[in-house]
Amino acid sequence: KKYKVAIVGATGAVGREMLRCIFQFHFPFESLKLLASARSAGKVIEYEGHEFVVEELTENSFEGIEVAFWSAGGSISEKYMPYAVKAGCINIDNTSHFRMDPDVPLVVPEVNAYALKEHKGIIANPNCTTIQMVSALNRLNEYFDIERIIVSTYQAVSGAGVAGMEELYRQSQEVLDGKEPVAKTLPCASDKKHYPIAFNCIPQVDKFDLDNHFTKEEMKMVNETKKIFNKDIKVNATCVRVPVLRGHSESVYIETKKPIDIDKVFELLSNSHGVELYDDIENQIYPMATLFIGDELVHVGRVRKDLDNDHALSLWIVADQLMKGAAYNSIDIGLKMIEMDLL
Ligand code: A2P
Repeated sequence: KKYKVAIVGATGAVGREMLRCIFQFHFPFESLKLLASARSAGKVIEYEGHEFVVEELTENSFEGIEVAFWSAGGSISEKYMPYAVKAGCINIDNTSHFRMDPDVPLVVPEVNAYALKEHKGIIANPNCTTIQMVSALNRLNEYFDIERIIVSTYQAVSGAGVAGMEELYRQSQEVLDGKEPVAKTLPCASDKKHYPIAFNCIPQVDKFDLDNHFTKEEMKMVNETKKIFNKDIKVNATCVRVPVLRGHSESVYIETKKPIDIDKVFELLSNSHGVELYDDIENQIYPMATLFIGDELVHVGRVRKDLDNDHALSLWIVADQLMKGAAYNSIDIGLKMIEMDLL
């Protein structure tokens, strides 16, 4: 069967990758509708010899559409997705809007595809930082029973959309030209102050929760990890924006119920679906963001047992967050639903 498909936010950083993934991973489509704001209506996007004319997203965009992939922002999903659900369309949402809704499965296919069976027309794609972490840790959790995760992220500017990338390019040039870099978007477009990202690290991704002193991005890692692993796992996250264009890195420390057997860890990571073990310190082999742009896997290296705690392990996890962290995981959810007879 082939499907009538739509991409909402098709002109954005993630939307463009969704289009690429639909072709690259052979999502079976009969028709493909690209939706964006009125600003982009009429714009032509070409891909592999196909020409698509971008249409304006409206309440009536979903008549006859069977599956839609969304990445136009939480407020757009909130406003328009109910119309799509009413029209009978199944929606795979990359925004954070519905993620913690108990009626909405939050899915990384290789970890919790079973949750898809409970869907009611909306499936949420987790936050990029959560996806790569739970994908890498899934087999370790099954075997060693992870009790606690402490994670620091090193997040690329493309996580803040096209505007984040533009800002890093422009500010880098400003600094090289001996000028003061002008900050307009980062760390968070909707917050009060902006700081330069060029030649800098910013320990703020998204806004702060003034009650608990963590950022919303950090709380996504805390709450989404519990929902996906379906257990009360302790998570402490520090999310940092770094001057990398594309690809998120994470330094992860886990504490487990069972003692760590390092040979077993390497065996499990070598046999984890969607995960590439990239770890050979004698030859200085470890994952780096620039190595894996455009690739759909989660790369793991620097795997080592803690020196003091027999029940603890450190690792370094890298993925292209526009791919595995967003577009690819969304398309993979769709493909998994076809395989499970849910589409
Ligand atoms: P547009 O390009 O027309 O503004 P990014 O995350 O890279 O900033 O991309 C955001 C995506 O969401 C873009 O495709 C953008 O379309 C789309 N978008 C933003 N606002 C709206 C809206 N009001 N209606 C539909 N799409 C929107």
